[in-house]
Amino acid sequence: MNKPRGIAILGSTGSIGRNSLEVITSMNQHGENYHVSYLITNKNVDLLYDQAKKYRPEGVVVIDEGKADLFRSYLNGEKLKVYSGKTGLMEVMAGGEFDVLISCLVGFAGLRPTLEALKAGKTVALANKETLVVAGEIVKRTANEHHAVLLPIDSEHSAILQCFSGEATNSVARLILTASGGPFLSRDKAELENVTVEEALNHPKWRMGKKITIDSATLMNKGLEVIEAHYLFDLPAEKIEVVVHPQSIIHSMVEFVDGSIKAQMGMPDMKIPIQYALTYPNRVPSGYQRVDFGKVGQLTFVQPDLDKFSLLKFAYEALRCGGTSMAILNAANEEAVGLFLQQKIKFMQIADTVQEALESIPSRPSSDIEDIFEADRVAREFVQSNHQLVN
Ligand SMILES: NC(=O)c1ccc[n+]([C@@H]2O[C@H](COP(=O)([O-])OP(=O)(O)OC[C@H]3O[C@@H](n4cnc5c(N)ncnc54)[C@H](OP(=O)(O)O)[C@@H]3O)[C@@H](O)[C@H]2O)c1
Repeated sequence: MNKPRGIAILGSTGSIGRNSLEVITSMNQHGENYHVSYLITNKNVDLLYDQAKKYRPEGVVVIDEGKADLFRSYLNGEKLKVYSGKTGLMEVMAGGEFDVLISCLVGFAGLRPTLEALKAGKTVALANKETLVVAGEIVKRTANEHHAVLLPIDSEHSAILQCFSGEATNSVARLILTASGGPFLSRDKAELENVTVEEALNHPKWRMGKKITIDSATLMNKGLEVIEAHYLFDLPAEKIEVVVHPQSIIHSMVEFVDGSIKAQMGMPDMKIPIQYALTYPNRVPSGYQRVDFGKVGQLTFVQPDLDKFSLLKFAYEALRCGGTSMAILNAANEEAVGLFLQQKIKFMQIADTVQEALESIPSRPSSDIEDIFEADRVAREFVQSNHQLVN
């Protein structure tokens, strides 16, 4: 039997991390040969312990040092290599024995470890879109220099990759990213003033981590995905469009120069694009739910309302502006979403906060990674010292 393909999961306790483990189990049940080499998490050591018992990795990383000691205390003599802190994380990214990194930490925290894995020539299956948003040029350059392969997990970008199959790059006319529209699609802008955290977290189609669920409610998620698509597929902002498709059956489309359009469809289940990233360019069987068109009924489309969901507009503007604008956009958004989740600002203030940060902090060229870290730091400080608290 061939050596199993070793997978490291950076963010194994999150929504994508848990789905990834299910995909690996399912693929092995269908005769594939995958092995979980490393499980990496921030703090959730209880779940990490259960995962480690089930999947028997070579090692685990607990990024939070204090929680790493707690995890070690669970082991009771069981043999497992435990790495901790940012140093332990970077050691595994640079020297760990694995073939594919599933990069699914949430937010900017994913950037350094993902870059390190690319430098080690690993294949990276990327869910952590923020990494490409803030440092797209640097990430791509690093992948090229180290002959590392970067594959998308986001369902929209997986759809586009699938539509590209067998097509010449210069035959692409535009990308059409679909958006579910989130929980507030049919509400007026005025009604969004006082929506609660609970309402914003109640996504109609996808079960995801809190940060991306709020980004889906503001449509910032789609803005981040436009930037991600720009870097993954080398197309300018003008050739990347967004259409709202509430049924979330078409995951995205590509229009070609002759006017023909390819769409990729499936149930809204992240296990499908995760599996595709692991088996690319091949497909293997799965038992995931199939689309029953009789039950779906209609597939509908509307233009996104950029007045109500202004973060999508700001993301396009940041992409056109270039340099550190996207790091500022992302950091301000991460901070604002955090403040909203803590009920310190209102829902519509998320967009106001990001707009203020973009207008107040000058964008600079971003030739190296330290420029990105500096822009990220400045934007976070700006939001923390300037946000208006809810009365
Ligand atoms: N969920 C989806 O369906 C989906 C779809 C497409 C793309 N994505 C993208 O995938 C990424 C992960 O999303 P998710 O929904 O899986 O998130 P999630 O459920 O919130 O999980 C986040 C993971 O990141 C870790 N983490 C959180 N804060 C951290 C920090 N400051 N430093 C280091 N690690 C940290 C968490 O560890 P602990 O559990 O230990 O705190 C957890 O393992 C995001 O970039 C998101 O945009 C998600």
